[in-house]
Parts: sequence; C-alpha cells; structure tokens
Amino acid sequence: MAKKKTKFMCNDCGYESAKWMGRCPGCGNWNTMVEEVEVVSKGPRGAFQHSSSTTQKAVPLINVETMEESRIVTDMGELNRVLGGGIVQGSLVLIGGDPGIGKSTLLLQVSALLSNKGQRVLYMSGEESVRQTKLRAERLGVKSEELFIYSETNLEFLNNTIEEVQPKFVVVDSIQTVHHPEVTSAPGSVSQVRECTAELMRIAKTKNIAIFLVGHVTKEGQIAGPRILEHMVDTVLYFEGERHHNHRILRSQKNRFGSTNEIAIFEMLQGGLKEVLNPSEMFLQERSQGAPGSTIVASMEGTRPILVEIQSLVTPTSFNYPKRMATGVDQNRVQLLMAVLEKRMGMMLQAQDAYIKVAGGVKLDEPAIDLAVLTSIVSSFKDQAVRGTDVFIGEVGLTGEVRRVSRIEQRVQEAAKLGFKRAFIPASNIGGWDFPEGIQVVGVDTIGESLRGCFNDI
Ligand code: TYD
Ligand code: MG
Repeated sequence: MAKKKTKFMCNDCGYESAKWMGRCPGCGNWNTMVEEVEVVSKGPRGAFQHSSSTTQKAVPLINVETMEESRIVTDMGELNRVLGGGIVQGSLVLIGGDPGIGKSTLLLQVSALLSNKGQRVLYMSGEESVRQTKLRAERLGVKSEELFIYSETNLEFLNNTIEEVQPKFVVVDSIQTVHHPEVTSAPGSVSQVRECTAELMRIAKTKNIAIFLVGHVTKEGQIAGPRILEHMVDTVLYFEGERHHNHRILRSQKNRFGSTNEIAIFEMLQGGLKEVLNPSEMFLQERSQGAPGSTIVASMEGTRPILVEIQSLVTPTSFNYPKRMATGVDQNRVQLLMAVLEKRMGMMLQAQDAYIKVAGGVKLDEPAIDLAVLTSIVSSFKDQAVRGTDVFIGEVGLTGEVRRVSRIEQRVQEAAKLGFKRAFIPASNIGGWDFPEGIQVVGVDTIGESLRGCFNDI
C-alpha cells in the first residue's frame, strides 16, 4: 500500500518538517529546506523489526577483544597514509571534489593497483558508460582480469552484482547518480542520497567489503546533497586542486580509523595521477627568490612538515575601505596580524590593500604560520625581500610575542634538508633538541626581534 507523502527536509542537518521554512529550526541555517516527495510502502511504523540474525547481545566492555581492523594496503603509499594505514575492510569512504578534478581517475587507478595484486574490484559508474571507462583505463594502462566495470544507477542491481562478482573493493561513481528503487524522489535528492548511503553502509558492513563513494562538490565547496552524508560514512576525503595546476591534494576531513589533517599530494600527468613524494620541493619550485612579499614557512600537515611559500601584496588603497583578501589562510587571522603590526610596530597599514596567498593552492590552518604571514606582509609593505634561504615558524600573540609551536624539530629538519640556511623560531622552543647541521636557528621572543633580524630599518 503505497502512500504519497510530501515533506520538507534540511539539506544540512536532515531536520524534517511538514511545511517549508526559510530558516531551519534544527541547525539555524537559511534556505536549506527542500521539498521531498517520498512513497512509503513499508509496514506499520514504530514497531521494531526483530530478526534473530542481526540481534546482538550487550557484553561487558572488559570482555571485548580488541583487534586491529584489517586493512588492504595499496601500492599507493600516499593514499594509505591519508586513510591511516590502508583501506579498512568493511568501511565506507566518501571522496568529494569538484567535477573534473580527478576523482574517477584516482579511484580507477586504485582499482587497478588492487586488482593487479589479485584483489577483485567492482567499479560501478553511473556517470560514464562501460566504454568510456574502458577508454580511460586504456589511457591509464590498466589491464587486469580482476577489475569489473559496471554501468548502472539502480542500487538494487548493485547488491545482486556484488553477490555475483564477490569483490573485495567497490567503487560507486557517484552517489548523486545512483537511486534506491523504493524511494521515488530524484537521484541526488536528500532522501535518495540518505537511503542509498544507508544501504551501501549496510552492504559494506555485512559483506565486509570496502566501498568508495564519489560525491560531487557544489560551488560552495560542500558535497552536493545532504550534509548528513558526511556524518553517515566512516571516512570523508576531499580531492582538491586548482584546475590550471597539475597538482592535486587529497585531504582527510573525517576518519573513524585514523587521524585527520593528513594530506597526500599527487600530480596529474598524461598517464594519470602520480604521487609526489617530496611535496616541499614541488611547492618551492616556482618560487622567485628575492621577491618582496615572499616568505617560506614550515607547516605541519598531519604528521609531515611541508615547506610552502606565502606571498603578500600590500599596496595603497584607492577606496575608503581597504581591501583584505586571503587565499589559503584565514582572512580573520590576517586582519589580526595586520592589527598587531599597526599597534606594536607602528606600521601604517590602515590605508593599504592587502592580498595574501599561499602558493600552490595549499590551505594552511595552524597558528605556526603566523610569523611567516606577518613577515611576508612587512616585506611587501617595505618593498624589501627577505633572504631566499630564510624560513619562519611561530605563532604570534596579540602583544606581539612569538609563541611556542608543536613539533619544532621536524619543521627545522625539513628546512635544513631543503637547503635553508636560517630559521626564525620561537625562543621558547629552543632547548631539549639538537639543531640540524647547516642551518642557523634564531630564537625570537617578539615580532620586533624577528623583523629586525631580516629588515635593516626597523
Ligand atoms: P576525472 O577523473 O574524470 O575527474 P572527476 O571524476 O573528478 O570528475 O578527471 C578528468 C580530468 O583529468 C580531465 O580534465 C582529464 C584529466 N586527465 C589527465 O590529465 N590524465 C589522465 O591520465 C586522465 C585519465 C585524466
Ligand atoms: Mg568522474
């Protein structure tokens, strides 16, 4: 007995309501309620369904045996690291990114690597035909008997095909194109995405196979469809990069089986994606040494230090209200640093536009980059370059003090390894570790001390 039901649902938090509202009472966001038409053909609601096969007993915690999750370790070391040591069996991983960034390419390559090692893979594509996928595979040089391609959008058939093929690893490309036959709303809508994800989760857990889901990202950079999708899956990875640059960054946003903040860097080449094993070298390649406004920071990305260039352009403003723009760093943080410079160093930045950019499209969000951002602003403002072999590490406080940061030794080591000659670091970070050879370590307590070390008329 099918019954037609109309309701409204929040795209962000899944709040349900019988009527449309401009502002969601659940999460307080505006314009997130969308209409959902759903045909419910289930039995009476409210009654729990008992099934002996799925009933679990509560057990005392001390009796639970701990076991490492079993992981499939791929030949792609960077992907393993972002996932926390390999693909966890029975996990559901969502990989989001702009169209054309290379999600399908990445997953087809992972599929190829796994199938080459004898693991059976099922690649379900609702976006491309079997032939198109084959063409891409040819371009990537994929040849394996264990890789199965399947062009379908009905999730029910996927279930059957999994029974038939018995894969260890499944790719669903993309969640916005598949549909659940029992839900009548259009593919990509809130209920479709939610039901399909729940079904895929169930398949992953009961059959103990790893499933990778592709999700497109909207203009605002969020995964299209409901945000609850991110809450449902085990791991969320974002694949980012600038279309006109070759390199791509795979970032872990949520991971039930490992740490987040890890990033992996790839290069998109003719023959597919290639891992970048030394990212600092790549990020510094294009740097023009001796240019005012450019500084280098050693920032921790997960467990690994990466050296990145920060660029600033500070110019007199032609408007009443100076412009502040930041790409790759937090704009509020930049404003704060500029205010510190005005107050503590007496620099007249009120009438200056400031554009700050992290080169290479990397996003940095740790306080240890403050000193490098601040120095880069001063360098552009004074039109004086810092030495090309200087690196800056430190958090800046409101009184102009340079504060201690984590993992200083690793950061300085990475800088020394790449040939940097001088590192400005917080004085409180000195002690308890040995300086690497070939690099002069300058401990500073305040921004004044640090700036006087690099510019001659401060
Ligand atoms: P694709 O994986 O289709 O992106 P998504 O699935 O995220 O939408 O990647 C498409 C882009 O990648 C396309 O612009 C062509 C480029 N590309 C290469 O540069 N080299 C390759 O070997 C492949 C397969 C694609
Ligand atoms: Mg694709």
